[in-house]
Amino acid sequence: MPPANAKKRPEDLRSHRWYGVKDLRSFGHRSRTAQSGFDRSDYTGKPVIAIINTWSDINPCHSHFRVRVEEVKRGVWQAGGFPLEMPAITLAEPFQKPTTMMYRNLLAMETEELLRSYPADGAVLMGGCDKTTPALLMGATSMGLPFIFMPAGPMLSGNWRGNKLGSGTDSWKYWAELRAGKITEDDWQEIEGGIARSPGHCMTMGTASTMTSATEALGLTLPGAASIPAADANHARMATASGKRIVDMVWEDMKPADLLTAASFDNAITTVLALGGSTNALVHLIAMARRAGVPLGLDRFDQLSQRTPLLADIRPAGRFLMEDFYYAGGLRGLLNRIRPLLALDARTVNGKTIGENIDGCRVYNDEVIRPLNKPIVASGSLAVLRGNLAPDGAVIKPAAAEQHLLKHAGRAVVFEDYNDMAARIDDPKLEIDATSVIVLKNAGPVGAPGMPEWGQLPIPKKLLAQGVRDMVRISDARMSGTSYGACVLHVAPESWVGGPLAFVQTGDIVELDVALRKLHLQVSDAELATRRAAWKAPAPRFKRGYGALFSKHISQANDGCDFDFLEGTAPTEDPEIH
Ligand code: FES
Repeated sequence: MPPANAKKRPEDLRSHRWYGVKDLRSFGHRSRTAQSGFDRSDYTGKPVIAIINTWSDINPCHSHFRVRVEEVKRGVWQAGGFPLEMPAITLAEPFQKPTTMMYRNLLAMETEELLRSYPADGAVLMGGCDKTTPALLMGATSMGLPFIFMPAGPMLSGNWRGNKLGSGTDSWKYWAELRAGKITEDDWQEIEGGIARSPGHCMTMGTASTMTSATEALGLTLPGAASIPAADANHARMATASGKRIVDMVWEDMKPADLLTAASFDNAITTVLALGGSTNALVHLIAMARRAGVPLGLDRFDQLSQRTPLLADIRPAGRFLMEDFYYAGGLRGLLNRIRPLLALDARTVNGKTIGENIDGCRVYNDEVIRPLNKPIVASGSLAVLRGNLAPDGAVIKPAAAEQHLLKHAGRAVVFEDYNDMAARIDDPKLEIDATSVIVLKNAGPVGAPGMPEWGQLPIPKKLLAQGVRDMVRISDARMSGTSYGACVLHVAPESWVGGPLAFVQTGDIVELDVALRKLHLQVSDAELATRRAAWKAPAPRFKRGYGALFSKHISQANDGCDFDFLEGTAPTEDPEIH
């Protein structure tokens, strides 16, 4: 039965159309539910909760979701709902080629259509591995039903001979050491066995931790959910609590539009900046905001960056890992530290404001979560660059770069695409030194396709051997949140569609000045116009299938890489009455 404060009666539920009416079709729905072993009393008059589960054998970050989903169901049953698990495509970051980003919008579409086409009154979204979080949220936001997000949680800290290992970050670090001959092949194999020790998503401040934390800051998880390690018993209890809560959210008719506002997106961006989060958050949050009808562009990130201190000392920018962060007080501890920067009256899924949810939340380790007066970086942990090389913007994470490179002019060494770079970067005859600027073209949303995380372009082997560990690198690709370096990313428009990056040649001088937010190619406008006139647009990579759909409809990085036909907030009309 609905609670006293319910805004809906059982016959107002969306699922009533499937189960509650007296006609031949609803007979079919009921008889087929009976076929699954459920009695009428199991679902009659109850909210039907779709649990969108991105579990798969191919996704180790979600391997515990097979168990967690049962814990979510337990909560739904306890609260008087009817749980229905609906598996959706997983996006397994380490495996999917060319990149999971190519499939983010596919999962978003699947989520929206699962919720639209089946008798769902509300949803629990189970994700966490990088793109699964924005994908699930984008689809569920477009559908507009009450939902709650249940994050996968970070895996335990990696370990090698007593040294902590962080996902991605330490892979890059020790791969460079191996290439420079500083560690052996046996060492490398030991690292392979110690870097991923439990279920859960990457435990550095990569895209996964960034996006689940941003989601909590948006008010779309129960308080505290994003920081709990996947292997912790508290994670199981959070799953059950999320299942319980969504049933009440349906009765209360708490929809995403009630929670997602310009202020809640500011909270999410501020959180990402205080965490030193992944640059991928720019693309995803822009796409998510636009699905919610909130106008958001790159400049808002730069504005908030200028007032937000970086407090979380987590790799790749810092020293610790997500398990340390949890023990130090987790996201709620950090949010309470930056509460002067937050819109505290933003509402969240538990019916309270974010201010109420973080009241009294403490930090237990000032090394991991710094006090406001001892930040790692006082402001500007992320910068949006513009100039004749990136008229629609580019992004850099200055905190993760060697500081002397943040004002730099150097000779471009250009690679036409990824394969060209892979073939020549380690050529001993390549004319390149530590002051050069490495440029990769055709790695953007259409060109790659899918804007893979190639943006941490490799340092040539001969320079590694000389001790060079960072250089200015420029591309229209993204970069893994677990990467680091003076990497200029998301150059827009991308080279494949004729952005100015397409016209850079080896030997040109490229100028980067982060303080001035400037990315400039020292080539005259007249010369650039000549090069543009000689440029030929590449032929489409895909002639059929999803790739053709993707290439035709994907937007540029500064617009969130959504499909043009999925943008907008028009409610999804159900095509039939019964
Ligand atoms: Fe899944 Fe990093 S591989 S979050």
